[in-house]
Amino acid sequence: MFQNLVPAAIDPILSVAEAFREDPRPHKLDLGVGVYRDVSGNTPVMAAVRQAERWLVQVQTSKSYIGLAGNLRFNQAVTQLVLGHAEPAGWFTLQTPGASGGLRLLADLIAASRPTATVWISDPSYVNHAPIMRAAGLQVGQYPYLDATDGSLRREAFFSAVAGMGKGDVLLLHGCCHNPSGVDLEMADWQRLAGMVTRQGFVPFVDLAYHGFGAGLEQDTAGLRLLADASEEMLVVYSCSKHFGLYRERTGAALVKSAEPARLKAKLFELARHSYTMPPDHGAEVVAIIMESSELAALWRNELDTMRERIQSTRDQLANALAKRGMAVDNLRRHKGMFSMLPLGEGGIAQLRNDAAIYIVAGGRINLAGLDPDKIDMLADAVVKVS
Ligand code: LMR
Repeated sequence: MFQNLVPAAIDPILSVAEAFREDPRPHKLDLGVGVYRDVSGNTPVMAAVRQAERWLVQVQTSKSYIGLAGNLRFNQAVTQLVLGHAEPAGWFTLQTPGASGGLRLLADLIAASRPTATVWISDPSYVNHAPIMRAAGLQVGQYPYLDATDGSLRREAFFSAVAGMGKGDVLLLHGCCHNPSGVDLEMADWQRLAGMVTRQGFVPFVDLAYHGFGAGLEQDTAGLRLLADASEEMLVVYSCSKHFGLYRERTGAALVKSAEPARLKAKLFELARHSYTMPPDHGAEVVAIIMESSELAALWRNELDTMRERIQSTRDQLANALAKRGMAVDNLRRHKGMFSMLPLGEGGIAQLRNDAAIYIVAGGRINLAGLDPDKIDMLADAVVKVS
């Protein structure tokens, strides 16, 4: 049977992580997968998480099944973080195995509701968006987004693509910290989109994986909330991998707004049951404990602020180093979150890896949160050499 398998496509992000692991050169630098690293290169367990875990070990009395919606207290905490209310009218939240699991669940939901729908993703987008949508049997289209020549938003091209969307179209947006470009919509753009949603009736689908890494927890949801008010139906997928540092615990959520809450809930339960049944609880319980304790929540917010400020400072230092070497970096300074794209071709990216042991994702995405400040000059020299 298995000899008939078509060889699997190589994952552009996880394959970089694997190649990096196998590289024996001691000075190697991993700017691939989107994980936060502190100054010593570690991806730490956050102090708030550690304290919540200690508490959890003491008080948890059972590991029995929890239910198809996952951890209900986590769902409330996430809904509050995303929408500013724990139980907003018309919304239903379900815990998912990471945001990738949430993307797939929502893709299955779209396919079950409107099999002919087209999901529109940005050019470029998170490398897993199109494969997940296609795996659910959906059609995928691309809308213009990044101007790769100067790292800016192709604003008018973007809006003219959106102007052609209507019922049957799903517009997949990045809530903040666009992956891979770092180019975010401004509030005026979100306002314009909100007006278009109301007039045209397409369904917004917001992926919020880097909440708090852009400008702050409130600011990073402001655009999404405008769309939530303007839309009759809307999809949101949420990740706690980055801002709670819970990567391997696979802690995510799917939030859906609809006029048919009972039907929607039953369908989501069915889709979950026919796939993974229930999401893992540990990360979700940790998030619930943190958000229910004002002390732990304050500690977590502080740690998140520190991470965001560190990434921003690394971004500024890299922009300065590149500017000193004659590169145009105005937009690089303005980008938000962990990522930006360097204007490098395939050859330049391969040369960085082969000659300097610097690993970045195909297309030129770098993870600034993986960059040790001591290595900024070395990176700037290597980038200038290959560009
Ligand atoms: C990334 O974009 O590097 C992360 O979201 C990791 C992943 O799952 O792809």
